[in-house]
Amino acid sequence: MKALFICDNKEEWTKLSQLFMGNFPKVELICALNGHDALEHLSYEGPFAIVMIEASIKDDDPSLLGKEVLDTVGERPIIFIGTKAFIKDRVDDDLYNNHPINGIIYNPYDAENFKDVIGQSLDWAKQEEFEESIEEMDRDDLLPMRIRNFYMFKIVPYDVYLELTQTKFIKIIKRNRPYTHSKIQTYAKKNIKNLYLGKNDFILMLEEGIKKVTENLLQKNQSNVKYLGNQIRGALIIQQYIRAIGVSDDIQALCSLIIETTDRIFRKQGNYKNLFDDIPFKNGDFAEQAIMTSYYCEAILHNLGWKSDLSRKKLGLASLLQDSTLSNEDLMKVDGPQDPNLQMFTKDEQDEFLTHPIKAAEIARHFQGYSEVDFVIAQQHERPDGTGFPFGVTVNKLSAHSCAFILASTFVCRFAISKRTPEDKIRILDQLRFEYNVGNFKETLQALEKSIRV
Ligand SMILES: [Fe+2]
Repeated sequence: MKALFICDNKEEWTKLSQLFMGNFPKVELICALNGHDALEHLSYEGPFAIVMIEASIKDDDPSLLGKEVLDTVGERPIIFIGTKAFIKDRVDDDLYNNHPINGIIYNPYDAENFKDVIGQSLDWAKQEEFEESIEEMDRDDLLPMRIRNFYMFKIVPYDVYLELTQTKFIKIIKRNRPYTHSKIQTYAKKNIKNLYLGKNDFILMLEEGIKKVTENLLQKNQSNVKYLGNQIRGALIIQQYIRAIGVSDDIQALCSLIIETTDRIFRKQGNYKNLFDDIPFKNGDFAEQAIMTSYYCEAILHNLGWKSDLSRKKLGLASLLQDSTLSNEDLMKVDGPQDPNLQMFTKDEQDEFLTHPIKAAEIARHFQGYSEVDFVIAQQHERPDGTGFPFGVTVNKLSAHSCAFILASTFVCRFAISKRTPEDKIRILDQLRFEYNVGNFKETLQALEKSIRV
């Protein structure tokens, strides 16, 4: 079992380590100089049965640090160590009274006080089965779940793992135990993209997500930001579900609900230019791109005066499915087969990228009521001069729907990999004007431009 001691005085490290060796030899003591280092240890080297904070620590407020630890790793004993004066001045009574096991160890140390407080914490940890938390697992038994799914819940009936190595995983969320969103944020900030679930749990969690997003989208009189947030969550679920499982009735129903919601919000909005500012475009990931693309498609159709429901549905579904087969989101930075960046990916990922328009088109054929959407999706990366992929066709072979979709999705993807400022929008439009202002693209480009330039 491990214990963590946060203290900026290394002499105290030695003293405490001797006390542990004398009284609890099985406990491995890890020491951290400050809160930042402590959170690194807690995130990656856990589980820690006990967290101890030196009350005289200079760079952190011990009470705030205690709260931050609890927010990050969930409920566990926090022990404050220090002289009576420092404990009185710097430790918030409420914090250590909140948990029955939280305690205080006074310095100079008293052996009985030390054994009593540490002993109680270790008993608590044993009950919580902390030792089971790092596990050797066969990765074929697990599926990666995008980390942002976990913001949708506060408690899940599944064990959730973080990947440490190819075979070692640490359980960071226990089934049916509440977790905090700041805990998820801590991992997200460290660029962790996926957490892992057992295969059955993965499917159950997506199904639960479908239910929740559906309920939220069906609620009346919500703000645009709420609907848009739920549409993005829905797009994320659709993409993951399709990659892991395929197309189901539930997924078809969710796609059509998201498409209807886009249309409803777009029509309700008097000035749709403001709508684009409401779209939460924080990560620029495939889910956010899908929803933003679908709104630009609506704007293009509106500006072209096309009123057909089928056009709207077709471009809506194309937006949701376009990149659904890509597992590595960094592939969005690749421009095409000639882009040298493509070489930075594995052979499998390169193949995945070059075939994704065709694979996504195959998936679209399972959907009823969106005729010829597969052509639009297959042509998503074609260019007017024939330098696109996978077919390399020129503008005269592209339908008006394909042209509208190519422009909306290319615009959104370039915006996603930019700094995402209003100036970037104008710069990307200028690029598109230079590359796409021919044939069927001409009118569509004007319609896109009208929705962006104020
Ligand atoms: Fe794509």
